[in-house]
Amino acid sequence: MGIHEVQQGRTPHLRLRQWIDDIAKMCQPDAVRVCDGSETEYNSLCAQMVDAGTLIRLNPAKRPNSYLARSDSRDVARVEGRTYICSINKNDAGPTNNWMDPKAMKAKLVSLFSGCMRGRTMYVVPFSMGPIGSPIAKIGVEITDSPYVVASMRIMTRMGQGVLDALGDGGDFVPCLHSVGRPLESGQKDVAWPCHPEQTYIAHFPEERAIWSFGSGYGGNALLGKKCLALRIASTMARDEGWLAEHMFIMGVESPEGEKTYVAGAFPSACGKTNFAMMIPPEGFDGWRVTTVGDDIAWIKPGPDGCLYAINPENGFFGVAPGTSVKSNPRAMESMKENCLFTNVALTDDGDVWWEGMSSEPPAHLIDWTGKDWSPGCGRTAAHPNARFTAPIAQCPSLDADWENPGGVKISAFLFGGRMGKSMPLVFQAFNWSHGVYLAATMGSEKTAAAEGGEGVRRDPMAMLPFCGYNMADYFTHWLNMGRQAPEPPRIFRVNWFRKDENGKFIWPGFGENMRVLKWVVERVHGRGYGVESPIGWMPRYEDMHWDGLDFPKDKFRELMTIDRESGCGEVHDQEELFDRFFDRLPKEFVYERELSKSRLWRSPRTWRPGATGSGARPEVAP
Ligand code: OXD
Ligand code: MN
Repeated sequence: MGIHEVQQGRTPHLRLRQWIDDIAKMCQPDAVRVCDGSETEYNSLCAQMVDAGTLIRLNPAKRPNSYLARSDSRDVARVEGRTYICSINKNDAGPTNNWMDPKAMKAKLVSLFSGCMRGRTMYVVPFSMGPIGSPIAKIGVEITDSPYVVASMRIMTRMGQGVLDALGDGGDFVPCLHSVGRPLESGQKDVAWPCHPEQTYIAHFPEERAIWSFGSGYGGNALLGKKCLALRIASTMARDEGWLAEHMFIMGVESPEGEKTYVAGAFPSACGKTNFAMMIPPEGFDGWRVTTVGDDIAWIKPGPDGCLYAINPENGFFGVAPGTSVKSNPRAMESMKENCLFTNVALTDDGDVWWEGMSSEPPAHLIDWTGKDWSPGCGRTAAHPNARFTAPIAQCPSLDADWENPGGVKISAFLFGGRMGKSMPLVFQAFNWSHGVYLAATMGSEKTAAAEGGEGVRRDPMAMLPFCGYNMADYFTHWLNMGRQAPEPPRIFRVNWFRKDENGKFIWPGFGENMRVLKWVVERVHGRGYGVESPIGWMPRYEDMHWDGLDFPKDKFRELMTIDRESGCGEVHDQEELFDRFFDRLPKEFVYERELSKSRLWRSPRTWRPGATGSGARPEVAP
């Protein structure tokens, strides 16, 4: 066929070699290159992309070894509408996923992939999600015709020869096939960001454990280790093998006495997981330390003692740039000082990057994410709202000492939180595991605009709505079972940083001050923190929280923690839509939890506040 082989990475794995050959026959690239993950390889790919106009080298004095990419304006985000779970049975994908019959999808994709890499190099990218050799890690191999994807995968995963060595001659891997979907016919000139938005498909085959993605070069559509493997496919593996693949940060909290507690948590996309996982304790917390294990994905498995241990399967951050600043997240800013890829941010006149929110005063002149001149007040944003930084996790100053522990870190608490302006208190603890799973499954964010479908809550169970690779009702059942099997399941908490007062202003300062909530959580976990039983869960009173260093009036705290009977009942009522969607597969526990929630609320005072006389609440150190 005359395909030129650049065999950098070497493997004796026959099934892998056969797969590479089969894909090359179908896609007909000009060359095949098995990546070894070396720095030389990375540098030469970046240099090649600079020559091709895909990357701009940033000023090395400002941002060493870093590059800017500008995508096609039609290829700027994950496309959930084009993301499919192709299980054999439609019901196994469930009502929240797009589904197509796997045979029909394969037929469609084979026709799209046939010849799709003509004129391009086909890269073979072996990668490990999790520390190579960890019993919790999994190996994938991504075949792609995008050098930008190769470079990004080198930052986001452990990639290259070490993975081929770990695979040996017969190890298991998840095949991940990707193409930007733009073959170059002879003599045709390439564009800086090839893609095929009209024919984009991100297809998952859960039974076969395979991923085929066509037409997009951006983020989670193209870096197949992240959302596609580490969440959608991994969630199906986790269901079958008895573990959890979650859209969660993992962080450590260390007390001045040196007691270390690990907490994992899920907030919907764009609700501040990265900021939370890199939090700096505020004034009044001398000697406390927060460490980061991961900001987006957690793989959680029962350890030899039956407790739940988590690893971060990733090796980098793929964070939203706009809004990130030295003020909002200094540790993220530090993490991206060098060796980074930036996508769709603005370029400063001195060859550095800028985005909305990075500084209060924008520079007087920029080149925006589309390559046009930009000045303040021109009516456009300089960076795309979903512009990203891709940074090596090793550069994070708060990285936890155990972040690569192959056995993971022991999780003591799960936090779940959406964006609720009107009703949800700052924090409360579930009464028990099944109540906690129900709270996690019913979480979401209040709809903010008519465009989102008016009033009510947009549910995002466990922040997994776009990422669960199977029927979410079965996923709830799996969660219930996981807690039953653990001798000491993590405690479950709901949090909400976004409650507003009657003037529409946030009541809680958020950011580092969230440490106060975290401290209460940690104390509850260790059986030391006082709480009162409210109609919706265990809650701290004002005096149960640590207030050193913050002047936060008691009446404001009580406003923040108020449970209004009517809106509480409204919220439980509103869950009906979610319950109806899952219909007969919904675990029975949820039906009873919902009824219990209704009756507790119904019998509560019209306005319930922790510590109010007559609330009937006795402070207790509870489970
Ligand atoms: C992400 C997301 O990009 O959740 O992490 O959308
Ligand atoms: Mn995410």
